[in-house]
Amino acid sequence: MYFVANWKMFGNLKSLNSLDKVIKFSKSKEIKKGRLIYCPPYTLISSFFKKFKNCLIDIGAQNCHESIDYGPHTGFVNCKMLKDIGANYVIIGHSENRSKGETDKIINIKIKSAIKAKLKVIFCIGETLTEKRKKKTRSVLSKQIKIGLNKIKKKSNMFIAYEPVWSIGTGKIPSTKELEQIIEFIKNKFKGRSPKILYGGSVNPKNIKNIKNINNLNGFLVGGASQNPKKFIDIVKKTYN
Ligand code: PGA
Repeated sequence: MYFVANWKMFGNLKSLNSLDKVIKFSKSKEIKKGRLIYCPPYTLISSFFKKFKNCLIDIGAQNCHESIDYGPHTGFVNCKMLKDIGANYVIIGHSENRSKGETDKIINIKIKSAIKAKLKVIFCIGETLTEKRKKKTRSVLSKQIKIGLNKIKKKSNMFIAYEPVWSIGTGKIPSTKELEQIIEFIKNKFKGRSPKILYGGSVNPKNIKNIKNINNLNGFLVGGASQNPKKFIDIVKKTYN
């Protein structure tokens, strides 16, 4: 199982100290077969990379510019730059960016450029509360997948993170049955070796027991709870116990 920590726009150099517990945990037997991936803000990627030098924790970024080339894009960072400073993963299509105008088409270009730069993609999809109420979840997910992955051949190296927008940061999660059906729906869209599938949205040490055994689920994308090392470790431990 993969456990991705999405720190969003939180964290500073002092937060590096909080990682000691996680590093220790990552070297213990308790981690079982869990794989940890930290996605801090851009400003901390390099420091996290150095901090994790002697352990198996991986690093990712939370977004990227769509262009693989260097260029006049003030304030942005491309995938080559991310790879250069130690990132191996990148989150693309997070709803917090979609809601600011990131389209499925731009997401598709970003994914292609991440693949070119040899970054593993964590591609986020999910419906809003209104879409859910209108029973549009499946058609929304289908569209996001169809356009987002247009003309991308090799998908087995990729992760799809199903993150219902109404669940992010709200404490609400889908029922086990609902989640099972959606994960199966996503999985069935791929023939052969499909992407790995993660769930994200208010995952915490309390609700993990309800979602850890979902068929075909390969892990979790954790926001708020991942900034607290004890909670993040607890999520991993409880997944295996
Ligand atoms: P949350 O965020 O765990 O705080 O709900 C998840 C995410 O946005 O990736």
